[in-house]
Amino acid sequence: VSATVPQTELVTLSIDGVEVRVPKGTLLVEAAKTIHTDIPVYCYHEKLGPAGLCRICLVEIEGMPKLQIACNTEVAAGMKVYTQNPRVDDGRRAILEFFLLNHPLDCPICDKGGECDLQDYAMAWGQGSSRTVEPKLPKPKAVDLGPTIVLDEERCIVCQRCVRFDQIITREDQLRTDDRGAHTIIATATGKPYGGDFTGNVTELCPVGALTSKTYRFRSRPWDNHRTTTSCTQCSVGCQMHVDERGDQLLRTMSVAEDDAVSDAWLCDRGRYNIGFVGDERRVTQPLLKQDPSPGSGQAPTWVQIDWHDAIAMWAAELKKAGTNAGVIGGGRLLNEEAYLAGLVFRALGIENIDHRTGEQTVVHHDGFASHVDLENANTIVTLGRPPSQLAPVLDLRIRKAVSRRGARLISVGDHAANSFVPETRVADVAALRKAMPAEPGTIAVVWDGVPRTGDDAFVALRGEWTAAGRRVLTYVLPEEPNGRGADALGLHPVNGGLDTRAMLEAARDGKLGVLTVLGANPVLRFPDRALVEAALRATPFVVVTDLFVTETAEFANLILPVCSAFEKTGTTTDLAGDVLPVIGAVRAPDGAIADGDALVLLAEALGLALPPVAQLEQKVYELVRTPPAFASDTAPPDALPAPQDGELRVIRETTIFTGGGTLAFDQRLAELRTQPRARVHPDTARAFALGDGDLVDVSAAGGAMLTDLPVVVDPGVPAGAVALVDGIPRAPLNALGGANYVRLAKALVTA
Ligand code: SF4
Ligand code: SF4
Ligand code: FES
Repeated sequence: VSATVPQTELVTLSIDGVEVRVPKGTLLVEAAKTIHTDIPVYCYHEKLGPAGLCRICLVEIEGMPKLQIACNTEVAAGMKVYTQNPRVDDGRRAILEFFLLNHPLDCPICDKGGECDLQDYAMAWGQGSSRTVEPKLPKPKAVDLGPTIVLDEERCIVCQRCVRFDQIITREDQLRTDDRGAHTIIATATGKPYGGDFTGNVTELCPVGALTSKTYRFRSRPWDNHRTTTSCTQCSVGCQMHVDERGDQLLRTMSVAEDDAVSDAWLCDRGRYNIGFVGDERRVTQPLLKQDPSPGSGQAPTWVQIDWHDAIAMWAAELKKAGTNAGVIGGGRLLNEEAYLAGLVFRALGIENIDHRTGEQTVVHHDGFASHVDLENANTIVTLGRPPSQLAPVLDLRIRKAVSRRGARLISVGDHAANSFVPETRVADVAALRKAMPAEPGTIAVVWDGVPRTGDDAFVALRGEWTAAGRRVLTYVLPEEPNGRGADALGLHPVNGGLDTRAMLEAARDGKLGVLTVLGANPVLRFPDRALVEAALRATPFVVVTDLFVTETAEFANLILPVCSAFEKTGTTTDLAGDVLPVIGAVRAPDGAIADGDALVLLAEALGLALPPVAQLEQKVYELVRTPPAFASDTAPPDALPAPQDGELRVIRETTIFTGGGTLAFDQRLAELRTQPRARVHPDTARAFALGDGDLVDVSAAGGAMLTDLPVVVDPGVPAGAVALVDGIPRAPLNALGGANYVRLAKALVTA
């Protein structure tokens, strides 16, 4: 150990007669864990810290007249602690008796039964019968707390974990306790529904059956579930998650308490709740071939089911016919192994037009391997472009933690609409960033949405100055697709003169491509210029789409290949920090659907291509993902925008975790969570256009493209002179405006 590394002072004490050495400042409840002794807790939680509210954690400390709470007592040298003896048992019994005074004794019909800390501790220390003769205090039952959660006030033991989660972790302060003593209830501070991106975590924190998820309650008992641990693939954070399944039915996902490295033991609501699509009856379960109607019949095309053998043969034949005049779009939702295979197979055919980027983002690759924990420990965090909360929600909790609990400075650069829950300095551009940057030394973490903007050159120069001044600079690019970083590292980007997505679409529109293969992507909804995508897909003689559903893009396909979800296949994915994470199949895919990787293997066989053995492929995947890329960025920053014309508003593109036309649109249980179309404007802008909250507006771009009937939301967080519009909503797709930077607003004509 180097002399410069600070030594942690260790303290020796005894717990139940066993000598324990732990760092000074350790809480007794944590010290006991080092000898595998679990002290019961309700209000205490490792991630929330002590609250000292419930007193179930009583222990005896030699020399102290009264029992002490282990959750808020620090170790001391020579301390002798007893966690199990008749005195401690008596104390816990008394505490439990208080908890059960008004708590219903109906575990058999409680959704938490079998995994409830009150049930378990009552079995361990409770007295078996009640001494009270008064009736229990009635409280509201089955309270609809918000779109995701139901609250049973009678079951609440007022440990306040849920309230403190909202105070300490999300910093959103939505929940609070109302009333006093036995009448205390949990409620939202505003009286509005409990919402946001992280609500489901409180159902896990709740030690009893008071908070339950609408999507899971009364669907199963824990002992009937089978659990698989995997990585969430709904975004690029890669949270570790438990998946509970029963009889091949996906029931729920849960956070992994030990996952300090990536999720910090949280899940966002997209990752937690967006699982209903897996069993949705609209899944495609047989390859579908489009049959065009006879010319002039006026009828719509129909889909005909064909078998996999014929589908693969057709795909192979069309690819052979097209030769190198073919393109591949997508792959950011594939597993690493599948992405690598895709690159091998299509490049073996001489196809160089390959690009996984299908949205606004054009830069994904970088050579940084800074971890999620490194971000939490940075002194200054600079976000560039869309806020991390919109692209990588659980990573945003790290940023909130860094600012609120570790004292980091947060500076956001750009004109996005604010939605920060911790103090931040907002600056418009790099010149202002230079001034706002604190001079003191320390690590700077840059979190970028990968969209090149005017001023990037100046930022590169500023970054060079930071490095020259001896500051450590970490970079995080937030991929738009869950495995965007893996797809990029594994070859799904254009090299050797291949076309990128936009150039491919233009070539296809101009009739220059014979085949377009779209791998698990939805450019019709996501690519900034919808008209270009549609024209390209229409003009291409043969379009193959691999997907679970007939999405907006699959509608344009000649052949749809039904593939597995990430819950139905096994491999690895790459998170935004460059970690290779396991993905483990939890349920069987519906008959007829196969993994993208298997479809690629069948294609390679049909084309007579040899593929490397699996072990070699896995090794190669790991090497490529962990090696900084040798290729340079292919995206130059755009020119500065021209000044707006009179009456034009600048477009701020927003995304939310609840937009999309694939897994989200096909999850029937999440209707309430999907982001609804809206036009957010600053109060000054609203006044200038004589608009108020809830008014409907039409938004039009030069050239006539239009989104109609968007409700106005007046929000001081949006810069004046701009309108914030949400990307990726099927009913009002922002890309229908063709990537316009300026739009006009007009009150919608509402007809009776
Ligand atoms: S609802 Fe659950 S987590 Fe919240 S205070 Fe009550 S018992 Fe604790
Ligand atoms: S942050 Fe991303 S990876 Fe984590 S649970 Fe949410 S969607 Fe899944
Ligand atoms: S867990 Fe110690 S007082 Fe609640």
